[in-house]
Amino acid sequence: MAVNEIPPVTRRQALLAGGAAGLLLRPGTSHAAPSPASLPVRPTTLHIAPTTVELAPGITRRVLAYNGQVPGPVLRLPEGRPAWIRVTNGSDAPELVHWHGLDVGAVPDGATEEGSSIIQPGGTLDYRFVPPRSGTRWYHTHTMAMMDFSRALYSGQFGFLIVEPRRDPGRYDREVLLAAHHWDADLPDMPRSPEECATPRYRYATFNGRLMQAAEPIRVRQGERVLFRFLNASATETVSLALPGHAFTVVALDGNPVANPAPVSVITLGVAERVDAIVHMNRPGCWVLGPTDPIQQTTGLGRVIEYAGRSGSPVWTPPPASDWDYALFGGTAAPPVEELRLDGIFPMLFERRPMPDGMEGWTINGRSYADLPPLHVRAGGRYLFRWINLSGCAHPLHLHRHNFTVLRHGMRRIGPIEKDTVQIGRFDTIDALFTADNPGDTLFHCHHQMHMDYGFMQMLRYT
Ligand code: C2O
Ligand code: CU
Repeated sequence: MAVNEIPPVTRRQALLAGGAAGLLLRPGTSHAAPSPASLPVRPTTLHIAPTTVELAPGITRRVLAYNGQVPGPVLRLPEGRPAWIRVTNGSDAPELVHWHGLDVGAVPDGATEEGSSIIQPGGTLDYRFVPPRSGTRWYHTHTMAMMDFSRALYSGQFGFLIVEPRRDPGRYDREVLLAAHHWDADLPDMPRSPEECATPRYRYATFNGRLMQAAEPIRVRQGERVLFRFLNASATETVSLALPGHAFTVVALDGNPVANPAPVSVITLGVAERVDAIVHMNRPGCWVLGPTDPIQQTTGLGRVIEYAGRSGSPVWTPPPASDWDYALFGGTAAPPVEELRLDGIFPMLFERRPMPDGMEGWTINGRSYADLPPLHVRAGGRYLFRWINLSGCAHPLHLHRHNFTVLRHGMRRIGPIEKDTVQIGRFDTIDALFTADNPGDTLFHCHHQMHMDYGFMQMLRYT
């Protein structure tokens, strides 16, 4: 197979040539290709192509996916060792793959805005990077969908990327990976009230591409400690999950270990967030691990948890009230902002702005991405994001190529938690500390596909 590392000029020309397909990618700047480090002998391969996914017998969808499966293959990459992933594009539009939560360079990061290369239809691109830190990361397409609900994250182009630690403490007996996704989006009318946001509706919701009623149960034994790695790979929907009679002990958020692994009865994942949680299996029976939202339950999201020797119809009982709160996991509260040595504070106000064509647009400090100048940082500097949500819906805020530390949520200072995506509630505020330690253009955006496509993005530029 010929490897075609697209030279920047060709890529830019391809983008300018545009066409319907080209419009799905945002233009970026160009960089030289990275020099190959000591490489593995052969690449891991990902092939993008239309695939028939069977959500349940008789319910099939033709979607873009990796290696003919949804989710794509679980990539397990050793921490600190060069990785080599060869992506071939068998779709009819330019594509690129983003390695979400990995502090890699801007070129392999997979975002055109940052100058990453695109993969033309029929083309191949080698991604090379060194995964810096262990944890539950993921990979996905980074195209735009606008109103085409077969594209970008509405499709099946997502998968787990587990960066494996050099030494695994092995605190669990079994590992279960569950990626939530919603299918068949449709956008009913735009909201009338300025306090509401446009909300797509979905016909189906799945873990790992399969409706609960059509999936094999997760079989466990009494006394086992099961590590669940949850990923919300939905384009737009928040997911809250419970397992009746059991507690989730949250050990990592977005793959980063937490200071205080606390038990909760409900786990909430904004789009793109991950939660690693250990469940001690000590209530024999047959249970539904499912969403607390009745609509998501009727659309098929969930898994049956079946203890050895138990069967029968799985039991669901709604949990009391959600106890989900980032503050539970952070340990001792951070010092007040005034006591931090900072090189700058970036206040960022998020607002919804209906556009002339009736679509819903999004602004940061009054402007959408196309009109928004970059935020400037210098290498080694420490900055504070002060995020202020002036809209009536939640936003999963994501920073590329860096993690950040949440220090304040609403009116409360909280124990530091390290994340790459944080869900800001409606009319909510968050302070997050960030060290500019990975030079190169860095994209900040809301991970809600409809919000990022309609302006909710800003560039961070190293000076
Ligand atoms: Cu998960 Cu801009 O990405
Ligand atoms: Cu948003």
